[in-house]
Amino acid sequence: MNGQSQVLPGGGHASREGINMAAAPRTVLISGCSSGIGLELAVQLAHDPKKRYQVVATMRDLGKKETLEAAAGEALGQTLTVAQLDVCSDESVAQCLSCIQGEVDVLVNNAGMGLVGPLEGLSLATMQNVFDTNFFGAVRLVKAVLPGMKRRRQGHIVVISSVMGLQGELW
Ligand SMILES: NC(=O)c1ccc[n+]([C@@H]2O[C@H](COP(=O)([O-])OP(=O)(O)OC[C@H]3O[C@@H](n4cnc5c(N)ncnc54)[C@H](OP(=O)(O)O)[C@@H]3O)[C@@H](O)[C@H]2O)c1
Repeated sequence: MNGQSQVLPGGGHASREGINMAAAPRTVLISGCSSGIGLELAVQLAHDPKKRYQVVATMRDLGKKETLEAAAGEALGQTLTVAQLDVCSDESVAQCLSCIQGEVDVLVNNAGMGLVGPLEGLSLATMQNVFDTNFFGAVRLVKAVLPGMKRRRQGHIVVISSVMGLQGELW
């Protein structure tokens, strides 16, 4: 390679000296970061020692951001930013994405809820809310980021699911 380096997909460089992984950080958008898995994942990625991720940790109610901000610590405003995002709202998704500099490299569809119980004891409205959030909320975000990922021919979409989607429960 005559001492010259070659740019790899994702921004790293290959050269005679080896692979330089000092690529630009990947922008990771995570839904549902007010608690639980979303919060923990956001904080873990933001604390990556190699600073490989710029985390956009989102939640529908910014009034709940204190726990996340406390857990983020020094990463707050550096490798982690908090943004409002309600996965059930087209407007909220558009607003959130418009505030992100550059493109979303990784989408983590985490926002969601469980609902278990006897059918006759659950209202249709409650069930519809689960579908609006868990299914259509995820689809709404995928539709928003997929065109950019396809254009760039790269990107990752992670969907946090449940074993309950595979196994039935007897009531
Ligand atoms: N933990 C488990 O054992 C388990 C098992 C199976 C599947 N899962 C799935 O894993 C994911 C995370 O669960 P978790 O255990 O971490 O639960 P969690 O602590 O209740 O977190 C769920 C998150 O989703 C958010 N959310 C709900 N509706 C939303 C909406 N319309 N827009 C944006 N955010 C919304 C919640 O926000 P609010 O605080 O505003 O409600 C919360 O931040 C969920 O999809 C869940 O179904 C978890």
